[in-house]
Amino acid sequence: MFKAVLFDLDGVITDTAEYHFRAWKALAEEIGIDGVDREFNEQLKGVSREDSLKKILALGGQENKYSASEFAELAQRKNDNYVQMIQDVSPEDVYPGILQLLKDLRANGVKIALASASKNGPFLLERMALTSYFDAIADPAKVAASKPAPDIFIAAAEAVGTTGQDSIGLEDSQAGIQAIKDSGALPIGVGRPEDLGFDIVVVPDTSHYTFEFLKKVWEENRG
Ligand code: BG6
Ligand code: MG
Repeated sequence: MFKAVLFDLDGVITDTAEYHFRAWKALAEEIGIDGVDREFNEQLKGVSREDSLKKILALGGQENKYSASEFAELAQRKNDNYVQMIQDVSPEDVYPGILQLLKDLRANGVKIALASASKNGPFLLERMALTSYFDAIADPAKVAASKPAPDIFIAAAEAVGTTGQDSIGLEDSQAGIQAIKDSGALPIGVGRPEDLGFDIVVVPDTSHYTFEFLKKVWEENRG
């Protein structure tokens, strides 16, 4: 049996991936970059704030246009807009199945850790009244490399006293799935196999993330 489940947040626990997308699209348009559509956004999901901005500037051919302080101001502007958007997030915004899964994991002694790239993660868990379910929140500011590097998943597993090998990782992003694979954990994606890969288990929405289903996928892949 797996010892821990390592959760991504944005797009897995709630719909904040959509707000990240809207905030980046708005910022990009302000600086004359039009190509931040949903297809391009698949490359931004899971990626840190700074790396996301670098990708957007590269898309617009503006990678050398801004000084370090201007770059920081752009990242800050996006975050300010995003933080405004998430002020009203509430327990009602938790995706289907997630609360029950958290309860079932606890009842069965499986550790729960957050492995989100977002510095707004702790705030969002509070808003959704989920903080108490988490045994650990890995700090994205303290890992050497962000997703697609495995560091945050390794840190999350270690924070609850286990390893990637003994964990399941839940993710909605290409970068995050790669990170889970390289951490040694077993990925279960939510979204479309066309985006996340045909070589892993992918469910269409979070209502499929049940404790029974996780056990079945684990048995079939690691049992
Ligand atoms: C990830 C999101 O969870 O966190 C990304 O998928 C986001 O879209 C990243 O860029 C960093 O988030 P934040 O809130 O620290 O800017
Ligand atoms: Mg995500």
